[in-house]
Amino acid sequence: MSKQTIAVLKGGRSLERNISLKSGARVEKALREKGYATEGIDVDESLVKQLKDLKPDAAFIAMHGRSGEDGTIQELLDILDIPYTGSDVLPSIRCMDKVLSKHIFVADGIPTPPFYAFNRDAFQELGAVDTMPIIGKELGYPIVVKPAAQGSALGIRFAHTESELPAALISAFSFDNKVLLEKYVKGTELAVSILGKEPRALPIVEVRPKTDFFDFESRYTMGKADYLVPAEIPEAAAAEVTELSLRVFKTLGCSGFGRVDIMMDESGGLQVLEINTIPGFTETSLLPMAAQAVGIGFNDLVEEILLCALEG
Ligand SMILES: Nc1ncnc2c1ncn2[C@@H]1O[C@H](COP(=O)(O)OP(=O)(O)O)[C@@H](O)[C@H]1O
Ligand SMILES: [Mg+2]
Repeated sequence: MSKQTIAVLKGGRSLERNISLKSGARVEKALREKGYATEGIDVDESLVKQLKDLKPDAAFIAMHGRSGEDGTIQELLDILDIPYTGSDVLPSIRCMDKVLSKHIFVADGIPTPPFYAFNRDAFQELGAVDTMPIIGKELGYPIVVKPAAQGSALGIRFAHTESELPAALISAFSFDNKVLLEKYVKGTELAVSILGKEPRALPIVEVRPKTDFFDFESRYTMGKADYLVPAEIPEAAAAEVTELSLRVFKTLGCSGFGRVDIMMDESGGLQVLEINTIPGFTETSLLPMAAQAVGIGFNDLVEEILLCALEG
């Protein structure tokens, strides 16, 4: 049998381009070592043409953020009839937009920190700024201000007082036309990676950033955060976290793999922050770390994700 050809899509123009290039390079190496023929594609306007020429057996999407993770590339691959790794178009759209995901969580009874969300028009044309005292009272400070669709903690700021809100909002709006103001959860940060055709949860990773929160720097610099696998939480809590994560993954319609970010507050209550449909494959990324903890090496992890696409 001739080798199957896998297009590894990476790079692109998102702000997480560099992370994606690292993820992509590691994925390509893993697939080559597993015996596949790989073709790395740094995604640009020639993408469709390149895919039409290459006619790969599948595409491995090693992209994060805009275009790669938000359903755009998935739509193109559907049109070209090329199987691809991870979630379909609709779950990708749902998960990339934190506001949309949180509305779905609320509708489905999945616990998530209380929030408000606005688009730019609300501020520029409708005087939304005058709601800030009400929001401050409802959510309490600090308030976490986030762009709706972004990753790697880019554009996220904590406003500790009302006077810090405008700068936090401006920062978030520089990343997206929609922003989220979310109640701060003090507690333990947990990440649950989900894997497989029949989705299963890998051991929970507890993140202890050495910075104020799990920001860009602490994510991608060795030694800037401590990771505990499995998380140091009571067994019953761990079972609850795992069950909740699988429920989130299924509720949003995800497939193949993903990662659910959860905060456990000081009284043990769980709050889902978000779900990532294409979590990182870098050396400090949480999915490979969780897989390793149950003896799934990086190459096997990558191949299992690919097989979900090929056999899907
Ligand atoms: N409501 C919150 N309470 C406390 N910390 C938060 C909250 N929301 C986000 N954070 C911190 O910010 C980080 C990034 O937030 P998250 O919603 O997961 O967005 P991203 O897509 O950038 O990962 C989290 O890993 C956590 O450290
Ligand atoms: Mg996150």
